[in-house]
Amino acid sequence: MRLLVVSNRLPVVTVEEKGQLLFREGAGGLVSGISAYLDSLRGSSLAGPQYRWIGWPGVTVAEPGPQAHVTAALARLRAHPVFLTDRSMDKFYHGFCNKTIWPLFHYFPSYVACEESFYAHYRCVNRIFCDAVAPLVQPDDVVWIHDYHLMLLPQMLREQRPDATIGFFLHIPFPSFEMFRLLPGAWRTEILEGLLGADLIGFHTYDYTQHFLHSVLRVLGHEHTMGRILLPNHLVKVDTFPMGVDFQKFQAAARQQVDRTGAIPDAALKDLKVVLSVDRLDYTKGILNRLQGYELFLEQNPSWQQNVVLVLVVVPSRIGVDQYQEIKRQIDELVGKINGKFGRVDWTPVLYQYRYLPFEPLVSLYARSHVALVTPLRDGMNLVAKEYLASRTDGTGVLIVSEMTGAAKELAEAVLINPNNVGEIAVALRTALEMPESEQMRRNEVMQERLRRYDVVRWADDFLSQLPTLKAEQQRLRSRLLGVPARRRLLDKFRQAPQRTIFLDYDGTLVSFTDHPRQARPSRDLLTLLRTLAQGAGTDVVLVSGRDKATMGDWFGDLDLALVAEHGAWIKRRRDNWRLAQPLNNGWKSSLLPILQTYADRLPGAFLEEKEYSIVWHYRRADLELASTRVKELVDDLVSYTANIDVQVQQGNRIVEVRCGGINKGVAALTFLPKEGAGFVLAIGDDWTDEELFRALPVSACTLLVGNRHTWAKYNLRNHEEVLELLREMSERQLQECGS
Ligand code: UDP
Ligand code: G6P
Repeated sequence: MRLLVVSNRLPVVTVEEKGQLLFREGAGGLVSGISAYLDSLRGSSLAGPQYRWIGWPGVTVAEPGPQAHVTAALARLRAHPVFLTDRSMDKFYHGFCNKTIWPLFHYFPSYVACEESFYAHYRCVNRIFCDAVAPLVQPDDVVWIHDYHLMLLPQMLREQRPDATIGFFLHIPFPSFEMFRLLPGAWRTEILEGLLGADLIGFHTYDYTQHFLHSVLRVLGHEHTMGRILLPNHLVKVDTFPMGVDFQKFQAAARQQVDRTGAIPDAALKDLKVVLSVDRLDYTKGILNRLQGYELFLEQNPSWQQNVVLVLVVVPSRIGVDQYQEIKRQIDELVGKINGKFGRVDWTPVLYQYRYLPFEPLVSLYARSHVALVTPLRDGMNLVAKEYLASRTDGTGVLIVSEMTGAAKELAEAVLINPNNVGEIAVALRTALEMPESEQMRRNEVMQERLRRYDVVRWADDFLSQLPTLKAEQQRLRSRLLGVPARRRLLDKFRQAPQRTIFLDYDGTLVSFTDHPRQARPSRDLLTLLRTLAQGAGTDVVLVSGRDKATMGDWFGDLDLALVAEHGAWIKRRRDNWRLAQPLNNGWKSSLLPILQTYADRLPGAFLEEKEYSIVWHYRRADLELASTRVKELVDDLVSYTANIDVQVQQGNRIVEVRCGGINKGVAALTFLPKEGAGFVLAIGDDWTDEELFRALPVSACTLLVGNRHTWAKYNLRNHEEVLELLREMSERQLQECGS
């Protein structure tokens, strides 16, 4: 296997200095995490997977000459650049990525800019990435796409390389539907569909996974079973993988006490207790709240003044976005205010550095800090919190971490704070600074053990190891599709048989579903097709539906075919009248109708359809999330209420149906077949009620399910259009026969 990592950022940033192109380490959790994982592969003694990292080189290189130079230099690092113009970067990266998605997904709706031109460039850059990646993909490769910059890419790539193995991981939160829905309708649909092009989609926390699944249900109407979404052509799995850190690497570096002077000279820290704060400059990180909390702490605890220091490292980031510039100004101001207010000639309360720290000085700071203060207002994961714990070789140190970070979900033994409450930060600082060492070690032992076990390699392995299993499952589903040879055999049998019976369900099989059952009236083309098919010598067409007999009669009464209504309660043979299949009692309806009506009233969009021997509770137009709860309650209620009544309660495609016992499509269909020598029998349906039909027919019958789920039928077809195509071909064969 070869791994193709695709992300907006490459592990290195190309910078131009005095006309020379240089490469520097990139900042941020994505780059740290993936680099650590790929490093572990390089160090592995196994022949291990090969990899390449495809991404934007961090600088605009317009001319072919320099582009070739960058490409060659990056190739040595197994990196492959995707070049973008300044304009694209402005609209795509500074625009849609960092002015639309970033604030929205981090719950800062007032910062969100929704500009058509941003989205147009987002689409365009995703396409550029697709064109760069697609030619590189070889049959056994795994393409692993990362983060919010490339959410359309999985589907774009799937279209070009249908069989590719594609994983996607989101490094930031996936917000609740109430946030996500703020995006214009077309964008949110396209983004979700874009992501669903992957085979496996991963998120840091269970909440983000659930938010994504809810959005998929509400926007696209796809339900899931244990995180598996079955699409007409594709099976996707959605799961939670909390990203870890390279625990051993941090431990080893901290043990060696690397670079003791790199970041802050020892003299500046003296015997002070060190509180550490390290982040990219970002309004999501809660740096201002942190400073306010520290200020309040100094105010409330004068005895700590001159005994503590806050080391504040802020890494420059996304300088082209207004809010980042504004937050920089506010931080500078507040640091100045705190230092001015509390500082002494020999004590500076906040040691502030606005720069990027490489690995070794950073670990050295982690190792020397008594407290890590991590207060994001929102953060997908936050690796700094985990790295701090991984660097505490003697087990001491206190982590204060915001409950709004993904990391907090795994670090319950830390001092958890709500970053919006400055008072809480001040109290937490005192708790942390005064916590006995034994207590620090007790808490850290539990968290360190977890971080050691679920490190970044385990995280990546967990994700990547699910892909082959998924591919095998997809293959199993695909092998059930009616392929060319089976289709040819079916048509041959059809042509050769003197007697043929074709059972067809209607909704979902011959037409697609509509909001209201009334709207699914057959088109003229469909009626012509059925008429032609039914005219064939020796061919009986039977429409087997759950519809009422009035509608069936109205729509198909003029055709020379047999009809079965209400799932088999009513039967109308060719050129005959409607007859009841068996004596039935519908006295139960009056007592069940009020129950069903109450449930319909409690779910906006739900409605009842009353037939002679059944009642259908429809919820296609309702909020599907609320519906899933109501359906469970309704079915529960109905099952207990009808324990002593001869009725069946069945769930179908966005419906719950109650009908007389002993009636089903299978029983009805058998009345059309002679006991022996049934000839050619074909049945096509899409719903659970059609399973009874498939099961009742002789084993020689050809049974086809429309849709992509496990079934009693022998084969699956993708959608109703494939059904029509098959029927058209059958009807043409009949016409050829007549002609010959
Ligand atoms: N980092 C670094 N040098 C710095 C500051 C941060 O190398 O001066 C690294 C840090 O070690 C961590 C990453 O940048 O791995 C930040 O990841 P995190 O998840 O905390 O936040 P993000 O920047 O991804 O939002
Ligand atoms: C976060 C994002 C990453 C991004 C990083 C740095 O960690 O999840 O995708 O690379 O921030 O941001 P930048 O805009 O510099 O790439």
